[in-house]
Amino acid sequence: MLRLITHIKCLVGTRNTSTVLRGAALRELPCVEDAFLLLDDERIAAYGLMKDIDKQELSNPTVIDARGAFVLPAWCDSHTHLVFAASREEEFVDKIRGMSYEAIAAKGGGILNSARKLQEMPEEQLFEQSLQRLYELIRLGTGAIEIKSGYGLSVQGELKMLRVIKKLKAVSPIPIKATFLGAHTYPLVYRNDHQGYIDLMIHDMLPEIAKERLADYIDVFCEEGFFSPAETITICKAGMMAGLKPKIHANQLHLSGGVQVGVQLGALSVDHLETMDADAIKALAASNTIGTLLPTAAFFLRMPFQPARQLIDAGCAIALASDYNPGSSPSGNMNLVVSMSCIQMKLSPEEAINAATMNGAYAMELGDRLGSITVGKKANLIFTKPIPSLAYLPYAFGSNLVDRVMINGEWIEK
Ligand code: NIG
Ligand code: FE
Repeated sequence: MLRLITHIKCLVGTRNTSTVLRGAALRELPCVEDAFLLLDDERIAAYGLMKDIDKQELSNPTVIDARGAFVLPAWCDSHTHLVFAASREEEFVDKIRGMSYEAIAAKGGGILNSARKLQEMPEEQLFEQSLQRLYELIRLGTGAIEIKSGYGLSVQGELKMLRVIKKLKAVSPIPIKATFLGAHTYPLVYRNDHQGYIDLMIHDMLPEIAKERLADYIDVFCEEGFFSPAETITICKAGMMAGLKPKIHANQLHLSGGVQVGVQLGALSVDHLETMDADAIKALAASNTIGTLLPTAAFFLRMPFQPARQLIDAGCAIALASDYNPGSSPSGNMNLVVSMSCIQMKLSPEEAINAATMNGAYAMELGDRLGSITVGKKANLIFTKPIPSLAYLPYAFGSNLVDRVMINGEWIEK
């Protein structure tokens, strides 16, 4: 079925070909003003200027009037922990009173707190509430998402999370990539037996994950007090043997060596990057690994933001993601991520939108299908409310400027 979308004030992210964007290329965000967009079922078939619309010679397409909206590719959120059992606002209050993230983790809070709650929750309930969260994000403009395990930390718990993600994949209108993050933290019983937990992941979790095809990627929290660079390499290599590409939590709280480990392993992405030095930046810039920045996590933990300008100037490919999770980023709103990147990390609106669409898609290996307005790509689109300019989107950070969201060429109900 052909559908013709007319009267688009600005069609954002139009590209003939798509590729991951790095350095100066991130500044270029091609747009067509006063545009139409033609869809053939769930795909983009053509676009152009409104004044050239008659040249399309279409017989009776369904016409949708965009009424002067800006139309953007939907956000591609390449790093989330969307499946969790319960919120953790009591820790939020502890932090307001002065406790540190590490101190909360040391007293059995943090990730272990989430793991305890997840063990108790039946799979069906976990699925239902995760599905609701997923739809909340789709209505905010997210058109592809990655979701990690990592609150199971036992064979049953990790498999439960990954089976929930697999069920979400089956019913979700947007593409979902699943990441095995058994190495999120050491469970208490393995505190003094790291090898024991690594063996459990390698011999009891990974074979079942491979058999049931439960994951696309493997992730490790490479951080002081969590997993060392050597442990990260061991775990990732075992994951790679099982067909999972690495995407690593790196350089969040300390100079963990995680960036270099990721680059050495050919990781798809290294994520967080709050704490970077010249060596880590140089290693990332010289690699094909995408650096995924999670500004809302830095914001929520009151940490310095990622050095985005230095990374871009060095020639790194950067993506933006929400890190949606109950501990360090209890929001999966990518509009806020884009705003915060401009406000706090001095990305230009064009750079931020590219990083949250095109490069986010590449950080999930979806760059050929999503992330730009390109013929043949999926019609996963954001239609804005009336706005005066593209820069108004990140500027007006508290307003919800997403009017309607289209996924696979179909409207998502509000
Ligand atoms: O990406 N840094 C590690 N993991 C999460 C936080 C998880 C939690 O606190 O529950 C993150 O920020
Ligand atoms: Fe994370």
